[in-house]
Amino acid sequence: MIADSRHEGPIITLDGPAGSGKSSTAKAVAKRLDFRHLDSGALYRALTLGLLRSSVVEADWKNLSEQGFTNLDIDLETSENGFQVLIEGEAVDIELRTPGVTDRVSFVASLPASRQSILGLQRRAGEDGRLVADGRDMGTVVFPHAELKIYLIADLEERAMRRLREVGEDSPDDLGLAQQARTLDTRDQSDSQRAISPLKKAQGAIELDTTGLAFEEQVQAIVDLAHRLTLL
Ligand code: CDP
Repeated sequence: MIADSRHEGPIITLDGPAGSGKSSTAKAVAKRLDFRHLDSGALYRALTLGLLRSSVVEADWKNLSEQGFTNLDIDLETSENGFQVLIEGEAVDIELRTPGVTDRVSFVASLPASRQSILGLQRRAGEDGRLVADGRDMGTVVFPHAELKIYLIADLEERAMRRLREVGEDSPDDLGLAQQARTLDTRDQSDSQRAISPLKKAQGAIELDTTGLAFEEQVQAIVDLAHRLTLL
């Protein structure tokens, strides 16, 4: 494994289960602090989309080498507030969040070769510091020397409700809510139980339960921690 390159400026990591609000919170915190935002989940989604677009049949994904994943040509381009994900030089955004990708991404992320193929890319994004990185293993594996590590959690039902709201379903029925909760829970189980880089609280991470918090409150809580540690 590549050693964690020491970085120039501060790094804040946000890890946690699906739907805990990591990406939107990380993005808002980065904006407030004038840091860049790295959404590592988008890279695993890009690997999955790249595979779906490739000629490799799904049954063979598990046999791909690190080079096989590297050949998918996933890259990051610096953008105004963070990084744009590219597949073969082409920007991808909403395509990364289709159900076809979401249903398969945890499997792809459980393969050691897939994780190794984008480790260097993620660390390069942190070389100059001033980064807020969100995902599952930001504080444990990718940036173990981060100055501030947050583990974001929220009740499963609350996370399911937030996910449904994101797609415009403001008042789901009990069945819809239960289905969404099951989908998130299945992904969490897979992410926490895999052998490599499982989802877990990093050593030294501060746990923040966002169940009862409004979005602005959770952003403020992390900005306050960053100020208290005088990271700025
Ligand atoms: O936004 P959401 O929580 O639904 O997921 P995401 O952050 O886009 O991540 C999608 C999937 O990628 C996760 O369920 C993990 O399986 C995987 N992932 C990972 O293994 N390691 C990371 N650092 C980030 C994401």
